[in-house]
Amino acid sequence: MKARDLLMDEETLFRDENVFTPNYIPEDFMHRDSQLEEIKLSLKPGLRGMNPVNALLHGPPGTGKTTAIRFVFENLKKTSGRLIPIYINCEDFPTPYSIFARIYEAVLGVSPPSTGKPLEDLKERLFRQLKKEDKSIIIALDELDRLFLEKNVDRVLVDLLKAHVTYDYDRVGVMGIMIRDDLMAELDEKARSVFNPGRIFFPRYGLGEIRDILANRARYGFYEGVLEEGLLDDIVNKTQSKGDLRMGINLLRRSALLAERDASRRIEKRHIKKAFESLSESMREELSKNLSGEERILLNIISESPGRMSGYFFMRFREKTGAGVKKYNEIVKKLERQGLIRTDYRKGIRGRSREIVLS
Ligand SMILES: Nc1ncnc2c1ncn2[C@@H]1O[C@H](COP(=O)(O)OP(=O)(O)O)[C@@H](O)[C@H]1O
Ligand SMILES: [Mg+2]
Repeated sequence: MKARDLLMDEETLFRDENVFTPNYIPEDFMHRDSQLEEIKLSLKPGLRGMNPVNALLHGPPGTGKTTAIRFVFENLKKTSGRLIPIYINCEDFPTPYSIFARIYEAVLGVSPPSTGKPLEDLKERLFRQLKKEDKSIIIALDELDRLFLEKNVDRVLVDLLKAHVTYDYDRVGVMGIMIRDDLMAELDEKARSVFNPGRIFFPRYGLGEIRDILANRARYGFYEGVLEEGLLDDIVNKTQSKGDLRMGINLLRRSALLAERDASRRIEKRHIKKAFESLSESMREELSKNLSGEERILLNIISESPGRMSGYFFMRFREKTGAGVKKYNEIVKKLERQGLIRTDYRKGIRGRSREIVLS
């Protein structure tokens, strides 16, 4: 190594480390023009003082769903006063009360009184205010599957979208965001008929698209010469193998941090390799942290022989845990909802049966 390759203590490889953080909204949001167009179309009536059209953004993790909504909402805040955009992540706000409290806060600019006001009271004040201000609202409910899990999704949707019956205010639109759209079939009839969203699909990025996006990120985030073209390809391939753009963005940052630690002026292959190993490991940990003991056991059983029929997995699961079929079905549903497994119906000798694979 030559002396000029060595990084001084106070030097850094990052032009702007911020571009690698989860909340960063990219300046140029590439390869999502048609989805952005559809989102804007749904909002349009809201800009004319009517109710926005409901929509459901769905597709695998890391395909830009959250970013697309936040991108459009940021622009909306700058350009329109008539339509109020409110983003809510249901993982953080999983109850009807917490959701309405968030909306209340966004509209009235103050938190709701903490003296245990009932939900009805909150809604009454909220909708009265919106009517008075003569405004429409669009609510994005991200990670909507959480509300299915809590079994309060019907209630939240109906409360939001049927406000005209009780409060004479009907200028609400809802944008749901989640991985799978077939969960819609689980809504009760009333919720389905008031929500009835237009579907906006986010497919996985192809290799070329991943490359474009990561190259841009590197350009904004690193100084020139930090990442060689050939090494970018290595990162792109690793990203595609995990099927989630987040892996690529984290890899860029982590590799650069490792390079800095070695006082190296550029990222080297070994930095990427090491970063990939530790990120894969923490991804696995993250996944299993959110699962219960039984859920983890079933996931392990399935990953040992994916593609077998549901009955087989149930037998193995019962051997290990003693759990019954009801419990088993619940867990299958939850793993499927989280996008960890997929089930497909097959016609078998004895009627319909499910095949289960990892996703
Ligand atoms: N088209 C894109 N252009 C630039 N960055 C993107 C694009 N799509 C996704 N990203 C980035 O990838 C990461 C994951 O995107 P996100 O919107 O959180 O995915 P999802 O909500 O579908 O799981 C974020 O860091 C986001 O900035
Ligand atoms: Mg998301």
